[in-house]
Amino acid sequence: MRAVVVPSHGDSSALRVTEVPDPVPGPGEVLVDVAASGVNFIDVYHREGRYPLPPPRVVGSEGAGTVSAVGEGVTDIVVGDRVGWVNILGSYAEKAVIPAARAIVLPEGLSPEVAAAVLLQGLTAHYLTHSTHEIQPGDDVLVHAAAGGMGLLLTQVAKLRGARVVGTVSTAEKEKLAREAGADEVFGYDGFAERVKALTGSGVHVVYDGVGAATFEGSLASLRPRGLLALYGAASGPVPPFDLQRLNQAGGLFVTRPSLGWYTSTREELLSRADELLGWVASGALKVHIFQRYALEDARRAHDDLEARRTTGKVLLIP
Ligand SMILES: NC(=O)c1ccc[n+]([C@@H]2O[C@H](COP(=O)([O-])OP(=O)(O)OC[C@H]3O[C@@H](n4cnc5c(N)ncnc54)[C@H](OP(=O)(O)O)[C@@H]3O)[C@@H](O)[C@H]2O)c1
Repeated sequence: MRAVVVPSHGDSSALRVTEVPDPVPGPGEVLVDVAASGVNFIDVYHREGRYPLPPPRVVGSEGAGTVSAVGEGVTDIVVGDRVGWVNILGSYAEKAVIPAARAIVLPEGLSPEVAAAVLLQGLTAHYLTHSTHEIQPGDDVLVHAAAGGMGLLLTQVAKLRGARVVGTVSTAEKEKLAREAGADEVFGYDGFAERVKALTGSGVHVVYDGVGAATFEGSLASLRPRGLLALYGAASGPVPPFDLQRLNQAGGLFVTRPSLGWYTSTREELLSRADELLGWVASGALKVHIFQRYALEDARRAHDDLEARRTTGKVLLIP
């Protein structure tokens, strides 16, 4: 099969489309013909070597498609089922092997493309707004990169929970998209903390920050006393070491560095979040914005576009 592998870590030129042996499902696993693979910032971290990429070094942590074979002991998933998955490496490929315990069977009417576009970032938006901080109606919420893959979903889910959402973006086109997703106020990054304080008085209840190094200080300064900074990514680079005493001086603040794996660690938790998320998609309460579909051969261009902030919403690879 064709797959995008990273023989050695580096910039986007490290991504190579290569013929590799078809993966074989072991006990408890299923083999899937991949219809679409989601492109996520974590794929950049794997490519660069910031996160480990074990052999066979096929990139991609999200996808959806049709089951073509099942391994020994798999009884609840059968050939022909349409499934999606998150946090399992190897999705930039024509075929992928998934543990049956991590497969999300897609409801009728949901295309594998939309599933691959919404699962990883949508489940992340779910846990950030329901568990990391359980948004209450009327909460003030700051969402950075509000027109990105995460940002458009987070904004919509925070609005579903009744928040007032302030977004940050870098361009006028992105501002328009963030507003269409429901953001009440949208700012550029320059002086955003002062603008947030001027708007809210004491600051926001929670900041969702996937930008990292470039926004961290402003994010802290945007919080009300006892507010929470959910630092869930580092698109602009990692945040340097931090003196915890500053949290006391700034108002008894909270900082967490969450990731999806900790909030979907049992099958029950994975499926209950997925059920609610896919229910919103089915009802039209949550819109999925697909920016562009790229061929596997164009994985390099997809990464370049994502890293250069040229994308909005979701980027897909179609094998
Ligand atoms: N912890 C988790 O569970 C989890 C799960 C999913 C994603 N994430 C994180 O969420 C973040 C967003 O991921 P995504 O896949 O949805 O990407 P994305 O938001 O679609 O793309 C990143 C966006 O970040 C903004 N940005 C600001 N400074 C940047 C810089 N120096 N370089 C690149 N981008 C910059 C850009 O928007 P503007 O141009 O508007 O600034 C850019 O479009 C990433 O940090 C990712 O690791 C975390």
